[in-house]
Amino acid sequence: MDKLLVIDDEMDVRYAFRRLFDSPDIELRLVSSGEEGMRVLKEFHPNLIIMDIRMGGMSGLQTLQAIRQFDTKTPVILMTAYGATQTAIEAMKLGAYDFVLKPFDVPKLQKLIFEALKASRDMSKIVSFEADVATLDDELGMIGHSEGMQQVFKLIGQLASSDATVLVTGESGTGKELVAKAVYQNSPRAQRSFLAINCAAIPENLLESELFGHEKGSFTGANHTRIGKFEQCHQGTLFLDEIGDMSLPTQTKMLRVLQSGTFERLGSNKPVEVDVRVIAATNQALEQAVAEKRFREDLFYRLNVVRVQLPPLRERVDDIPLLVQYFLRKFSKLFQQSGKSINENALLALQRYEWPGNVRELENVIQRAFVVTKGETILLSDLPKEIVMRKLNALDAGLEQGGDQARVSMLSEGESPEEPANTTDINKLADAMFRWARKNTDQKLIPLVERELVKHALKETQGNQVKASSLLGITRATLRKRIEKFSIRQEINVD
Ligand SMILES: Nc1ncnc2c1ncn2[C@@H]1O[C@H](COP(=O)(O)OP(=O)(O)OP(=O)(O)O)[C@@H](O)[C@H]1O
Ligand SMILES: [Mg+2]
Repeated sequence: MDKLLVIDDEMDVRYAFRRLFDSPDIELRLVSSGEEGMRVLKEFHPNLIIMDIRMGGMSGLQTLQAIRQFDTKTPVILMTAYGATQTAIEAMKLGAYDFVLKPFDVPKLQKLIFEALKASRDMSKIVSFEADVATLDDELGMIGHSEGMQQVFKLIGQLASSDATVLVTGESGTGKELVAKAVYQNSPRAQRSFLAINCAAIPENLLESELFGHEKGSFTGANHTRIGKFEQCHQGTLFLDEIGDMSLPTQTKMLRVLQSGTFERLGSNKPVEVDVRVIAATNQALEQAVAEKRFREDLFYRLNVVRVQLPPLRERVDDIPLLVQYFLRKFSKLFQQSGKSINENALLALQRYEWPGNVRELENVIQRAFVVTKGETILLSDLPKEIVMRKLNALDAGLEQGGDQARVSMLSEGESPEEPANTTDINKLADAMFRWARKNTDQKLIPLVERELVKHALKETQGNQVKASSLLGITRATLRKRIEKFSIRQEINVD
């Protein structure tokens, strides 16, 4: 639950907050002075503080300074009367998160509070790398036994002490944001702020002002001076998500701030100096964007000082059982229900799926399955069609090519009589073959495998077709057809 502390000496304002944030997800505490705020702060531990600048007794600025003596991170939003923005800018320099003008524009205020709460969560929820899912307490774990993920964890550890710019790349849903948070939390700036901005979610013409701020009157609608994220994040870490979507003019400003640590607010020519560590992420192939002149080459090299490349989930199938276990635990906690498990067929289907949406998609699938399953075990039928179909398709292909004797079942839960009891090894082989097929998309998996199997059987039986067909579980007639179809006769000395 989020905890909000409001400090304002006007009763009307406190009352307005009581009405606006009457939600079971938010615990609200209202106090009427800076002194009282300081006392409450120490036992309430809010995620966000909203405070008036002008108060009797300790002013907002004095209170902010006092807060920052022992708490360098909790976002503080200041409220100021229209026209007093200069004081508000002073407050930003003292480490305020942002300021709002009174009277409030309610939707804007709510949006700002929502953003600040997210920033607060980003800073306080620690990403853990526990290898044993069962001992993971926090819901923000980064899981992965695979070689690829172990490399990523190692790199995060190596980055910990540095202040270098980091570029995190990977397909959508592979965990780029988690990596950014983990780098921040393990860095020397962990006690300072971490702010995130999604370059793709902000209209192009507003992004520059969001990053660098603007002066009053610098463009239509710029009614007051605004501090950008770079200034807001002085001495902290700025996460620039989806940087591949940044326009070329904004890229130019970005390059400058990375190189010299200075920039100007829009509509001003006074340079502002900042000390910000940048972590950027993108799911675009930036090298290609550079080749197509959509992304500045010099900026790319400047960002690419350290690169963390996240492998797609389909290339780390080994991590799937572990991730499934982790998400099952997470949802059983979240929904306060007893734990659930998953049966082997359903897990296999998950391991064969392509996962275009990677870990996020897997998480959604498990959440949905957790909710729809009737029993304690998630079955194939609890999974979305596209995942089940993927498995069916693979089996259908087998039927088509496998000839008259091939019989395939295992399509529905618990009734797979033709499936031998010990299929684990075969399943592993199949997984390896699917991985291969994905890399070699021009090759046809079934005919290739079939041909190899027939060749092997003939070799092993020294060309004895009766024995070979029995080994393969097909009739002699089918074997003959296969020998012919694949022109095996010439290669192997058979009659
Ligand atoms: N290795 C992992 N272990 C556990 N959870 C993970 C892992 N990787 C990603 N997740 C979870 O998957 C979801 C997506 O992760 P995240 O937002 O970091 O991905 P992203 O690469 O930034 O995605 P996008 O490109 O869509 O922004 C989150 O809920 C995250 O907690
Ligand atoms: Mg992301």
